[in-house]
Amino acid sequence: MVAVPVIQAAPQPAITLSNVQKQYGGERGVLALDRISTQIRDREFVSLIGPSGCGKSTLLRIISGLTSFEADEASVFGQAIAGPPAELGIVFQTANLLPWRTVAANLSLAVELRGHKTPDLPERTNAMLAKLGLEGFGARYPHELSGGMKQRVAIGQALMANPRVLLMDEPFGALDALTRDHLNVELLRIWQAERKTVVMVTHSISEAIFLSDRALVMSARPGRIIEDIRIDLPRPRDPRTTRQHPEFGRYVVQLSELMGIV
Ligand SMILES: Nc1ncnc2c1ncn2[C@@H]1O[C@H](COP(=O)(O)OP(=O)(O)OP(=O)(O)O)[C@@H](O)[C@H]1O
Ligand SMILES: [Mg+2]
Repeated sequence: MVAVPVIQAAPQPAITLSNVQKQYGGERGVLALDRISTQIRDREFVSLIGPSGCGKSTLLRIISGLTSFEADEASVFGQAIAGPPAELGIVFQTANLLPWRTVAANLSLAVELRGHKTPDLPERTNAMLAKLGLEGFGARYPHELSGGMKQRVAIGQALMANPRVLLMDEPFGALDALTRDHLNVELLRIWQAERKTVVMVTHSISEAIFLSDRALVMSARPGRIIEDIRIDLPRPRDPRTTRQHPEFGRYVVQLSELMGIV
């Protein structure tokens, strides 16, 4: 009998970008992104890091279908990007919470807007509050929360619709360093439980290393990917051990050199 070889199809990438270009303002305008090509695997955590104005937010907007672009290919789970894909959750630098809705009502908003029939919405909202470390805050209003708590609600809001891909544009950029370190640990815990595909823009080298499987380093405008660095630190990660890992410091030096900081 002849053994039939089992051909395993490569798993479908979460995001495929091939020669993505973005020019603002027509022919004689600003070239913001220059031939961006990469693939991001399902459940991968990827950080985008690069100088101000290099096109990081533009790239997230392209992936979220919010802006026009040119490309040989740009797809999310095999679907060409043309308008906001249903599989996406987005978190911006400052939480866009509705001030007249309670925390719980802000969390349930994304699900309500999608018109999903979800009789278990109150339970899911409570479970999310617990995941975010915000038990007991469901009936509060955004103005009663700290900046870090608001940002946690924004992440929860994006996760409530159970997206396969979470895009975050400097989600902790407006926070102080201590709150940021704390939320890094929270985000890591949430990601380890939910295993979404994440693309996160950050200006923090240590944040990128602590959280990511890969860091994509971009050049100054027009933004190109100049380095694609696999962060080979063991998982599950933990603030006590990961930052002490001998390789952690080596990644900090490597990224700092690429960013022209050292
Ligand atoms: N709507 C727009 N119209 C015209 N030019 C724009 C627009 N948005 C961004 N740009 C330009 O495109 C370039 C990339 O901007 P983008 O906001 O993507 O950078 P960024 O890497 O996110 O920067 P930062 O780190 O400061 O947030 C910049 O030169 C910017 O001036
Ligand atoms: Mg930006």
